[in-house]
Amino acid sequence: MYEELLEFAVRMAREAGRIHLAYFRSDKLAIRTKSNVYDVVTRADKESEELIAGMIAERYPDHAVLGEEGGSRGSAESDWRWVVDPLDGTTNYSQGLPVFAVSIALQHKGETVVGVVYAPYLNELFTAVKGSGAFLQYASREPERIRVGEKQALATSVIATGFPYDKDVNPDNNSDNVARIIPYVRDVRRLGSAAYDISCVAAGLLDGYWELALHEWDVCAAELILREAGGVVCDLRRDRGISIVAGNAGIVEEMRKYVR
Ligand code: IPD
Ligand code: CA
Ligand code: CA
Ligand code: CA
Repeated sequence: MYEELLEFAVRMAREAGRIHLAYFRSDKLAIRTKSNVYDVVTRADKESEELIAGMIAERYPDHAVLGEEGGSRGSAESDWRWVVDPLDGTTNYSQGLPVFAVSIALQHKGETVVGVVYAPYLNELFTAVKGSGAFLQYASREPERIRVGEKQALATSVIATGFPYDKDVNPDNNSDNVARIIPYVRDVRRLGSAAYDISCVAAGLLDGYWELALHEWDVCAAELILREAGGVVCDLRRDRGISIVAGNAGIVEEMRKYVR
């Protein structure tokens, strides 16, 4: 039932990825700051969101859109809402580092039914449709079904996290969690894209993930991908935007002993 919408979401993600790659490591990035000096945006963020919002408006004029750069568009009454992070990992992108992705989710009556996370430089496409499992397509290979990892011990786990941008106003910057958990895990990664981190957990490439102060556009698509891959997402706290722990059920329980 959602296959056509998935196909459309994949097409939008691939076209947005072409914009990312066109400006990547070029002198045309037009890097600007947003909320503070730590929070950057580029021409590629804005142009790829305009492209995606334009494609949605043309094909599904009655659908609403929430995007990081453009905010809410379309009717708030619509049953359908696209949640778009046109470029997740802008700090990496602006530095010329290869981990960045486009994240596109579609919600029907508030429930996420389609999720696409596409990392154009890495040529990795993660997809999920509610009830139909999660898939990873690498380059021109056929898509393969993905499953969350099975490790149950933190000692053998490699987990990822990130750090909020609002550190100038909020001293609670997640470093205490890192300090608490690091003695108990094999290693911690900061890859730089929440959507990609969570998708890697879905594919068993990372064993767990937590982060504070995220937004809907960072997590919507990847959460569906993770759940469809058998993973668990749980709320860590409610006072810092979206703050979550993700992994298989056992690892999430272990991580919660140290992160808060
Ligand atoms: C950011 C990335 C980063 C995470 C930040 C996000 P953006 O998104 O996902 O990994 O640590 O919290 O805001 O701004 O690059 O789209
Ligand atoms: Ca941003
Ligand atoms: Ca983001
Ligand atoms: Ca973004």
